[in-house]
Amino acid sequence: MGRMQDKLAIVTGAANGLGEAIALRLGAEGARLALFDIDSAGLERIAATLRGQGAQVLALPGDVTEETVVQQGFARIAAECGAIDVLVNNVGGSRNQRIWEMSAEAWDFTIRLNLRSAFLCTRAVLPGMMERKSGAIVCMSSGAKEGTPWSAAHSGAAAYSAAKAGIHGFIRDVAWEVAPYGIRINAVAPGPIETDRTRAVFAEMNATLEHSPKRMVPMARAGQPREIADAVLYLASEEASYVTGVTLDVAGGR
Ligand SMILES: NC(=O)c1ccc[n+]([C@@H]2O[C@H](COP(=O)([O-])OP(=O)(O)OC[C@H]3O[C@@H](n4cnc5c(N)ncnc54)[C@H](O)[C@@H]3O)[C@@H](O)[C@H]2O)c1
Repeated sequence: MGRMQDKLAIVTGAANGLGEAIALRLGAEGARLALFDIDSAGLERIAATLRGQGAQVLALPGDVTEETVVQQGFARIAAECGAIDVLVNNVGGSRNQRIWEMSAEAWDFTIRLNLRSAFLCTRAVLPGMMERKSGAIVCMSSGAKEGTPWSAAHSGAAAYSAAKAGIHGFIRDVAWEVAPYGIRINAVAPGPIETDRTRAVFAEMNATLEHSPKRMVPMARAGQPREIADAVLYLASEEASYVTGVTLDVAGGR
């Protein structure tokens, strides 16, 4: 029996990077999955991989910052898959610019992508969890919640840092609100994690910046997506039954 056997888990941004690793990890532990992503081709690829490994998967292409997309997606999950046990609010990212040059559009895009997506999906999942008095939610913060020297020095990431600090505040308050209903909500704050998207960026930072990930992380390496997926699995599982309102740093010691 897997640690997530027959549980229904939702992962947003599951087509690439950390979301893909999280979906694969939860699937390997026996979870049934419903996966959101705006990249429909990537979503089909990961869904096919998971089905090949025996998992039941519902693929939901769409933009989870859009209220109707989220509402319709969760209605489909309820109709086709039943009650939800786990929600992983993984979608996030940024449009970095120096703060004195940052457009209001870039600022709004970053805040919306990281915070509105987590808010909309959390709001959508809660009524069912509250009714059953059970459920676990994991959100994706970042080491950037306290600012990251390499991102600041490389391209300016203040909007991203503000958004990821916002995730920490979000889970702290929501944990209080939902604890009486037997629901837990936590966050994982990854340090620099090597994915197809970040590999070249980190290599450039390590070659050019004094305050680069390699020099600033005590363990002197980037993390692997599997190391984030393991932390998400822990927080989503019964093993974390007395853990809520916590942002867990998985960041090589920084
Ligand atoms: N990789 C890192 O080093 C790192 C470090 C700290 C935090 N994080 C956080 O972890 C999460 C995943 O990061 P990643 O590096 O895997 O990112 P990524 O950009 O590689 O993957 C994000 C996924 O989300 C999807 N997506 C983007 N916008 C969407 C939207 N509006 N609706 C639905 N899907 C959408 C993308 O298509 C993609 O599949 C993010 O919240 C990110 O901020 C990553």
